[in-house]
Amino acid sequence: MPSVKVKDLKKLFGKMKAVDGISFEVKDGELLTLLGPSGCGKTTTLRLIAGLERPDGGEISVGNKVMSSEEKKVFTPPEKRGMGMVFQSYAVWPHMTVGENVAYPLALRHVPKDVQKEKVKSALELVGLGGLENRPGTLLSGGQQQRVALARALVFEPEILLLDEPLSNLDAKLRETMRLELKSLQQRIGVTSVYVTHDQAEAMVLSDRMLVMNQGHIEQEGNPRDIYDRPKTQFVMDFIGQVNYIEGKVEDVASDKTLVKALSSVGNTPLQCTRLETTKRGEDVLLCIRPQDMAIYKDKPSNKANVWQCTVKIAAYMGDHIEYELIHGDQKLKVSGPGSLPFKVGDSVYVELAPEGIKVWQRQKKS
Ligand SMILES: Nc1ncnc2c1ncn2[C@@H]1O[C@H](COP(=O)(O)OP(=O)(O)OP(=O)(O)O)[C@@H](O)[C@H]1O
Ligand SMILES: [Mg+2]
Repeated sequence: MPSVKVKDLKKLFGKMKAVDGISFEVKDGELLTLLGPSGCGKTTTLRLIAGLERPDGGEISVGNKVMSSEEKKVFTPPEKRGMGMVFQSYAVWPHMTVGENVAYPLALRHVPKDVQKEKVKSALELVGLGGLENRPGTLLSGGQQQRVALARALVFEPEILLLDEPLSNLDAKLRETMRLELKSLQQRIGVTSVYVTHDQAEAMVLSDRMLVMNQGHIEQEGNPRDIYDRPKTQFVMDFIGQVNYIEGKVEDVASDKTLVKALSSVGNTPLQCTRLETTKRGEDVLLCIRPQDMAIYKDKPSNKANVWQCTVKIAAYMGDHIEYELIHGDQKLKVSGPGSLPFKVGDSVYVELAPEGIKVWQRQKKS
C-alpha cells in the first residue's frame, strides 16, 4: 500500500486558518491518528486528503502520484483518489439492504454485477457480517451499521482508508470493542489509514503514530508512548491524560543541570525534579505530574524524595482502583490508589511525587 505525504497544507475559511501549513507522512500500512480538541482542523485535514475540499496551499501525494498541488495546479477528484472513507454519521441508507449499501461504491465504478456480489460478500465477511446481504438497513444495531459503513469503505479495496470519528455514535462499551476490532482489521489488510478523533484513549489504543493538533497546526508528532511520556508542550501534556499542576520557583540548579529544587508555592515545600527544561535559579516554573507518577501511603515512607503529607478530600471508588483528590495546604492533587487499600475522606496520607515524573516548564507571566 502506498504512503500519503502532506506538505505545507493550508485551508482558509474566510480569514480563519482551519489548516495552517501542516506537513506529515502516513507510511505504508500505518494507522496515523489526528488528535485534537474540537475545531482544531482534523476533519478539514481529512477532507483535504479525500479531495472533498480544495486546499489554499500545499501538496498531497499518494505514493508517487500528486493528488493535489496548488503550485502544480493539480486537483484529482475524490472518486479518482482510491480512498475509502468512513464518517462519524455512518450514513447507512435505510431504504437499501445491507448488500446494496455495501455495493454502492462498486455500482458507482460500473463494476459488473457478479463481481459486485463476490466483493460485497467478502467485505461483509471481513467486518463480521457475513450472510447479512439481504437484511434491510433499518434492522441493524449501531455497531452493525458501523460495520456496514466500514465494509462499504473497504469494498473497492482502497489503497487509503480515511476515518472521521467513526465510533463516536456508539455507546462506551461497544466503542471499546469496535476499537480493537478496527485495529486488528486494519493490521490484517494493511491499508494505510488516517483516523480522526478527539478521544485521546481511542488514539492511544489505535495509533501507530499520532499527530496532536491545535488551532490548525501540529503540536507534536510521535508514537502514543512518546507523546504520553514526553509531551513537548503544555498543550499536549494537558490534552493527553490527567495532570496535576504545581506552581514553583527554582531554588537550586545542580551543576549537571539535571536536578532542580523547586519551591512549591504551598508552604515552600521543596521538590526535587530531574526532568529539567530550561530553568535558572529564581525562575518561576510550573511543575506538571501525572497521577500515575505519584504513590499514596498510610505511613510516611523513608528514603524517598518528595513526600508530602496530604488530607483526602474526595475518594471515588472505580472498582479496580480509587481516584482521590488530596489537599496539601491549598494545593489540590489528583492521585489514584489501589482498590485494596482504601482511604476515607478526611484521612491523613503521604504522597510521593516521583522526581523523574515531574516536568518543569517555564511559567507564563499572568497578564
Ligand atoms: N465549511 C466550513 N465553512 C466555514 N468554516 C468551517 C467549515 N468547515 C470547518 N470550518 C471551521 O474550521 C475549523 C476547523 O474545523 P474542523 O471541522 O476541521 O474541526 P475538527 O477538528 O474536525 O473539530 P471536531 O472535533 O469538532 O469535529 C473550525 O473552526 C470550523 O468552524
Ligand atoms: Mg471533525
